Amino acid sequence: MKEQKDIDYIREINKIRKEKNVIILAHYYQLREIQDLADFVGDSLALSQKAASNDSDIILFAGVKFMAETAKILAPEKKVLLPDINAGCSLADSCKAEDFKKFIDENPGRTVVTYVNTTAEIKALSDISCTSSNAVQIIKSLPENEKIIFAPDRNLGNYVMNETGRDIIVWNGTCHVHEEFSIEAILKLKSENPGSKVIVHPECELPVRLVADYIGSTAGLLDFTKRDNGEIYIIATEPGIIHQMKKANPDKKFIPAPPRDSTCGCSECNFMKMITIEKIYNCLKDEEPEIILDSKLISDARRPIFRMLDISKTLVTGK
Ligand code: 13P
Ligand code: SF4
Repeated sequence: MKEQKDIDYIREINKIRKEKNVIILAHYYQLREIQDLADFVGDSLALSQKAASNDSDIILFAGVKFMAETAKILAPEKKVLLPDINAGCSLADSCKAEDFKKFIDENPGRTVVTYVNTTAEIKALSDISCTSSNAVQIIKSLPENEKIIFAPDRNLGNYVMNETGRDIIVWNGTCHVHEEFSIEAILKLKSENPGSKVIVHPECELPVRLVADYIGSTAGLLDFTKRDNGEIYIIATEPGIIHQMKKANPDKKFIPAPPRDSTCGCSECNFMKMITIEKIYNCLKDEEPEIILDSKLISDARRPIFRMLDISKTLVTGK
């Protein structure tokens, strides 16, 4: 038997994915080599759309648990694999079902809009889901006088509230990556790089959003770098996205925005970075860890996601 260290992982993965009819979906925050290996790379919205419509037997999700759960909810007949079951999300963790149920009960008569960065239980308590790509569009699709609860990200919630002017109360959750960017370091980088543009994910705090030249989801930021005529960009989101930015724009310069407290100089999501090529190989070979969800939970959590997908019909392109 081959020792694990002697295995050519990429060759083996390519063999198994074909034999087992697997689709490998990867988020933009994954390691570069994983993005290059994937069948499809995208933001949360594009990945949900792809999970809902593909002809594989198995979905291997290179991302975090709420994303793999969303894929299982959208394609319950398929086996959905997540190479490390501990790849969680600080934002999803900031909204526990028990507490959220209480919050909804204390604020009756409001439409519950939740970001996909939530557990299946939170989705089951929601009227409609959204991602950072379509949050404004989803809120605008609701009747103007509708009162809304938005969860779990307070920064995205406040951003959407400002953009739409709607009556929204926002759950107080945050992502540990996006709330940590240093506005001082961003301004310093901007002055050291004349002509540079600051592009920002809406999960960032208000001071960072205020200095943004453009605010958008990961796919939105990537598209902006393709159509904009700038040369230097300071990127205030997880730096995994820079891989696709460089591929699409080899002559432009991309600088990751530093966090307040930095040893590596960039803000990586430790959960996203738990997925490795070796774990993908083991996961494909053993067909575990697998996402298992109760069928009642799946049917309750499907409603808000399908309602969102129905509104966001245009397919966001990935790799
Ligand atoms: P996107 O919706 O831009 O893919 O963002 C997902 C995410 O986890 C942001 O932290
Ligand atoms: Fe969750 Fe933040 Fe990581 Fe996105 S970057 S997966 S919101 S912890």
